[in-house]
Amino acid sequence: MSTTTTQDQALTYNYKVVRQFALVTVLWGIVGMTVGVLIASQLIWPALNFDTPWLTYSHLRPLHTNAVIFAFGGSGLIGTSFYVVQRTCQTRLFAGGLASFVFWGWQLVIVAAAISLPLGYTTSKEYAELEWPIDILIAVVWVAYAIVFFGTIMKRKTRHIYVANWFYGAFILTIAILHIFNNLEYPVSAMKSYSLYAGAVDAMVQWWYGHNAVGFFLTAGFLGMMYYFVPKQAGRPVFSYRLSVVHFWALIGVYMWAGPHHLHYSALPDWAQSLGMVFSLILLAPSWGGMINGIMTLSGAWHKLRDDPIIRFLIVSLSFYGMSTFEGPMMSIKTVNALSHNTDWTIGHVHSGALGWVAMVTMGSLYVLIPRLWGKTKMYSIKLINWHFWLSTIGVVLYIASMWIAGVMQGLMWRATNPDGTLTYTFMESLKFTYPYYGGRLLGGVIFLSGMFIMAYNVYKTIKGSNTDDVAEQKIVDVLPEGAQ
Ligand code: HEM
Ligand code: HEM
Repeated sequence: MSTTTTQDQALTYNYKVVRQFALVTVLWGIVGMTVGVLIASQLIWPALNFDTPWLTYSHLRPLHTNAVIFAFGGSGLIGTSFYVVQRTCQTRLFAGGLASFVFWGWQLVIVAAAISLPLGYTTSKEYAELEWPIDILIAVVWVAYAIVFFGTIMKRKTRHIYVANWFYGAFILTIAILHIFNNLEYPVSAMKSYSLYAGAVDAMVQWWYGHNAVGFFLTAGFLGMMYYFVPKQAGRPVFSYRLSVVHFWALIGVYMWAGPHHLHYSALPDWAQSLGMVFSLILLAPSWGGMINGIMTLSGAWHKLRDDPIIRFLIVSLSFYGMSTFEGPMMSIKTVNALSHNTDWTIGHVHSGALGWVAMVTMGSLYVLIPRLWGKTKMYSIKLINWHFWLSTIGVVLYIASMWIAGVMQGLMWRATNPDGTLTYTFMESLKFTYPYYGGRLLGGVIFLSGMFIMAYNVYKTIKGSNTDDVAEQKIVDVLPEGAQ
């Protein structure tokens, strides 16, 4: 436990780069989700592409996924990891200049993606669409990120490496390996390449990458965030430190093998598909262990759920994490996947993880972080955080409920047959039936996005505002999570 002022902290810690990442996280969140709302609208009113090639659904969909995962999620992850590693190692960030390069390099990657994807440059590999020159830039920035993060761990002033850093560290190492191996390709021109792999092997490598992008980018990194910011905001040590270590090893050991569940009933050997299914089912255990560990951190202080909207953000995000990691193993069972695959059920699953877990844990963590970074005691308006919380929760529930109904219905309609063996429904009939649910999804998306604008306003007022007291005078007590002393 230590008592410090913002001025002391600014001398000790590199907050500049964390501040930069925190701000762009909000910005890219708004941009990525606005594109999400636009493509959700295009699925109802295709004319919204205005007959302009770079505004077509096929060009904007990868822009949405790249913007929300890598620009919004990535900036949130890198920024919070730079904060958490400094605080829990009680030392300044290693190689400040390199950290600055990571910030600007990552923004350059984002801008290059935002230009090249609408123009139609793509490798056609989902979540790895960017062409080879941008891939090389990503690899360089990522190595710099690894040097800064692990360099800081090396020069730590604490004996112990707090568990959040283990999760962030696994995320950094694994993403480096996945990115490099999945993007091995032959360049044929400045912006065109072909994969080094072919056929079923290419598919297997792609979904080894794709699933572990979920496991390590959208899960392990955010668990690092959770293990720091939940205890911090709750003002209590993590429920079971032992469980967090078991959680870590079990999760990283199992995730690697689950990728084939994306390739059920494909040319992949049957044994590999079954292996993916079995490991996906096993994955339920560590996922729920982590969720329970996070939620139970609040035990003895449940009243905070009523009083503190930031805690609500964090705990509800963990509930969505639990929900999507229950749903995922179910969807990996081959007979269930026969119904869910290629339907909107998958899109519902994705967004219960992406909006409910990833976006909400990020927002909760930013609400803890931002006042501290700018030397304020709290956010400008707690009431607005409460509004944001409810808009996010209602938005995500509307989104995923619409997609579940649409998805199950599509699956059932596509497989229905008449006694003579012909299909009962045409594809167009199933599409017509889906429209109202696309409307429900759009409404959910708009509500969720409106919460982001409220957040941006609240962040702006917090930074600029004079209504909050400066921590330098307040001398706040900074409670480090257990294990970080
Ligand atoms: C306002 C919020 C959002 C809206 C309205 C939205 C909307 C959409 C739409 C319409 C699609 C295409 C679905 C299809 O092809 O049938 C999509 C795909 C996707 N979105 Fe979002 N999205 C939002 C936020 C997010 C966030 C925050 C993330 C991640 C952190 C995310 C991750 C994804 C992914 C990974 C896919 C591809 C899913 C797949 O291929 O199975 N979205 N989104
Ligand atoms: C125990 C954990 C999980 C398991 C076993 C799992 C399993 C699955 C399965 C079986 C699919 C459908 C594959 C298909 O039919 O094509 C899927 C899709 C997907 N899941 Fe999960 N899931 C888990 C957790 C999560 C979480 C927490 C997130 C997000 C934060 C997530 C994001 C996605 C995405 C983005 C896709 C769509 C991939 C695509 O583009 O086709 N999953 N998952």
